[in-house]
Amino acid sequence: MEDQAVEFSLRPRYLSEYIGQSQVKENLKVFIEAAKLRKEALDHVLLYGPPGLGKTTLSNIIASELGVNLRTTSGPAIERPGDLAALLTNLQEGDVLFIDEIHRLHRSVEEVLYPAMEDFALDIMIGKGPSARSVRLELPPFTLIGATTRAGLLSAPLRDRFGVVSRLEYYQTDELAFIIARSAEILGIGMVGDAATEIALRARGTPRIANRLLKRVRDFAQVRGSGIITPELAEQALGLIQVDPLGLDRIDHKMLQAMIANYRGGPVGLDTIAATIGEESQTIEDVYEPYLMQIGFLQRTPRGRLVTQLAYKHLGLPLPDAE
Ligand code: ADE
Repeated sequence: MEDQAVEFSLRPRYLSEYIGQSQVKENLKVFIEAAKLRKEALDHVLLYGPPGLGKTTLSNIIASELGVNLRTTSGPAIERPGDLAALLTNLQEGDVLFIDEIHRLHRSVEEVLYPAMEDFALDIMIGKGPSARSVRLELPPFTLIGATTRAGLLSAPLRDRFGVVSRLEYYQTDELAFIIARSAEILGIGMVGDAATEIALRARGTPRIANRLLKRVRDFAQVRGSGIITPELAEQALGLIQVDPLGLDRIDHKMLQAMIANYRGGPVGLDTIAATIGEESQTIEDVYEPYLMQIGFLQRTPRGRLVTQLAYKHLGLPLPDAE
């Protein structure tokens, strides 16, 4: 199977198979059932949180549970209002339209979305100048699911039009171990002892990372080991691919070390950090920072980012002298 197909097969299809995010799951279960009872479209759903926690997976599940079609797109892919109009007019009653990275919608597109979400209507402008007029086109009731890593970047009018707003949290180690065990079973990977926990501990609370690490550990198990993943083999393999015991990778280390070596641990601005280590500011902000903040290694201050004592300790570095 191609990697992407494998990726897809690892995704749970129904809520009952979905591990973790219990609060979000329980609430969604009720909202989905209620919508089905009333034979209405589910209210619009906003899913937000760090990347890799299952926003796309959940939207697939919501459509499956509702028994409707899912159309998938993303904020940057919808360039003009007409692109969105084409998507909306192709929906069938009750369908789910999933817009990933919804914070990156163009303002002009967003404005088409407001009446679509609120009144299931499309306002089309005909003509230009003084004779221009607007014609209202009715749409079938549908559910918009928006996903974003940055809820704060959503405009207030857009945010306010979602009836369900759910924040996805980092997963607990035992939940990730379950996900890894489930994936191993699907992929036919043999695993013994508590190898799943060994991998889960280094997966940064993120199923996408957990599954990626599992596949890399499998490579080592097949080439260097007996084909079976033991806890010892997992630990050794993760060390070799430079994922440390807390799950921090080369880039996390590079970033913290650069902040310490060049800026005495900060505070230092995000763009400065990005330029120093040659990464995009956006990637640092969306992918790396949230977890470093979650484990208390980094703080955001009004004057920039600050490395904490905990991080110095983890890296085995001496604290800077007090000024
Ligand atoms: N695979 C990826 N995320 C998952 C989840 N939350 N539950 C089960 N399997 C998963």
